[in-house]
Amino acid sequence: MYGCIRSLRRSWNLVQQVQKLPSLARCINTTTPFPEFGNMTDLRSHQDLYRFSLTDPQEFWCRLARTRLKWDKDFTTTFDSNLREGKIAWFLDGKLNAAVNCVDRHLPIKGDQVALIWERDEPGTQEYYTYRQLADMVGQIGNVLRNSGVSKGDRVAIYLPMAPITIATMLACARIGAIHSVVFAGFSSDALASRIQDAKAETVVTADQGVRGGKVVELKRAVDDAVSRCPTVKRVFVYQRTEADVPMGKQDILLQKAMNAESPCCEPVSMESEDTLFMLYTSGSTGKPKGITHSTAGYLLYTTTTFKHVFDYKDGEKFGCVADIGWITGHSYALYGPLSNGGTTLLFESTPTYPNPGRYWEMVERLQLNHIYLAPTSLRLLLKSGDSWALNYDLSSLRKLGCVGEPLNHEAWEWYYRVIGKERCDIIDTWWQTETGGICISPRPSTPGAHIEPAMPMRPFFGIDPVLVDHDGQEVTEEDAHGALCIRSIWPGMARTIYGDHKRFIDTYLNPVPGMYYTGDGAHRHPGGALQITGRMDDVLNVSGHRLGSAEVEDVLDDHPAIAESAVVGFPHDVKGEGIFAFVVRKDDAVESEQEIADNLRKKVKKEIASYAQPDQILFTPGLPWTRSGKIMRRILRKVAANETEDLGDVTTLANPSVVAAIVERRAMLQ
Ligand code: WTA
Repeated sequence: MYGCIRSLRRSWNLVQQVQKLPSLARCINTTTPFPEFGNMTDLRSHQDLYRFSLTDPQEFWCRLARTRLKWDKDFTTTFDSNLREGKIAWFLDGKLNAAVNCVDRHLPIKGDQVALIWERDEPGTQEYYTYRQLADMVGQIGNVLRNSGVSKGDRVAIYLPMAPITIATMLACARIGAIHSVVFAGFSSDALASRIQDAKAETVVTADQGVRGGKVVELKRAVDDAVSRCPTVKRVFVYQRTEADVPMGKQDILLQKAMNAESPCCEPVSMESEDTLFMLYTSGSTGKPKGITHSTAGYLLYTTTTFKHVFDYKDGEKFGCVADIGWITGHSYALYGPLSNGGTTLLFESTPTYPNPGRYWEMVERLQLNHIYLAPTSLRLLLKSGDSWALNYDLSSLRKLGCVGEPLNHEAWEWYYRVIGKERCDIIDTWWQTETGGICISPRPSTPGAHIEPAMPMRPFFGIDPVLVDHDGQEVTEEDAHGALCIRSIWPGMARTIYGDHKRFIDTYLNPVPGMYYTGDGAHRHPGGALQITGRMDDVLNVSGHRLGSAEVEDVLDDHPAIAESAVVGFPHDVKGEGIFAFVVRKDDAVESEQEIADNLRKKVKKEIASYAQPDQILFTPGLPWTRSGKIMRRILRKVAANETEDLGDVTTLANPSVVAAIVERRAMLQ
């Protein structure tokens, strides 16, 4: 707390120093890049504004909220929050609607501007949707949902491919005040069922089939299977993506047919600032995935501001976030950020390698994209295929190159910068999480021309006060240091709770270091202050930029009749960043061969979670290294998985130290 006051005081002194030197500030930069603060002559650079955002967050966010969002009713209190008590509330007494902010308010001057570019699976078959067309779709779906009984606060599960109908359905929920819960269409029916059950959703929106990388995905079939176990579900809307002949049951309704019978005019519900806009499930280190909830006003303001300033988005540009809508990146930077700014956004239905590793670059040339925002894992995959795929295309439309999801290694950074950006585009490595709502650390915005350090997100965004904390929960004050990354400030886009389990929210994020938001990531602060994220500090894996709890996979493995116990850890993987290594102990009476069991385990994980969760390596061992207090010593297993078995450290505290030698021996046989 004292540190907090001290650093605020330091920042305030700096702000005051700048205030005393208005003439100097004026000669540094005469046009403020921040129109919201236009009449505050002392706020000229990003640095000035950043300091101001920490010293006077009330004034800072109040100005942004009033200038960047359309309110039905003005708010009276900018925030009323106390992280120690788990209380987070912004823009109290204000009322607004997210769909109005993303669509309606642009209609008078941008009705005919393209809002969505649908990059369908087959290259060259893209479709364009204007703001007016999107508004009509949103209105019709809003009426369909409302007239079938969906009302404010109801949860709507969305299991759809990347398509305009998906964006319109999410916005239709927002319009009528329903809470959307998008479930990534690559998740299995079991994973879908548990998310529907946890949210107690009565409504599901899906498609007959999805198409991805030239392959058909049987979405309706998965929904039928899931819904058979979800007694809360009353209706399933089916969008016909392929028009395949899928079985339709009593509660199934063809979405387009229902839309055709509805008017596009749908009265929006005026929502309280703190009303939930959506929930999205994400993996934690223990237990089942948690439904992270985001608020209407705070989330919208944060995504609109970060989108504009981190990417320096300019009116008329085409923004290409290639993430799927099933992840937070799709929510914040394919939908809410771009559309709340009146921008043009890409919906990418395909994969980075379909029909070949030139897909992204051919698309950039064909669609003339100005920004691309992708995951490091796809860069690593594409750079392995050589430069020629990228060199075949004209990439001169690109202005900024973003990435998110996992640490961007130097090799991938260099490739992105030289081969894709031709050394003229900023590489914007953005660090954030499902829980943070939007980007928290990124090299931009910053004073134009400021240096970008390769392979790190570097600088905190406005309002974000990052702190490194040691094992004892104390702030690490040295400049060049490692620690657990925490955020000492509050910001409008932060998650409000875990659906139905506020205690878990507090225990996971607010209790580990009282007074701060605990991210679960480790970071290295370099001399000069630039931040590099070193990876998760808990048992969350990051596979190709997708979060996955070790415990989730272990649950599935342990459930197999031939398995006595299991432990799952990550190991360095060339392309995926992190691969999944499973140590399994076979029951004495199991009759199948190890190979048969391993095949079954992989199938089981695919069925119960998703294909990306399948272990890369499965090692049968006689036992696991348990401590005497009954915990698996994962530190040892991580080293074994990474094949760093020379120095396993102290194993004497184990209840069964001899098991380590046996595990190492079996690991050597895997090579
Ligand atoms: C990791 C994705 C290093 C991190 C938006 C975080 C990153 C988790 C970066 C959140 C980055 C995200 N550098 N690591 N630029 N961005 N991560 O919730 O471990 O799917 O905690 O949100 O991804 O994943 P999530």
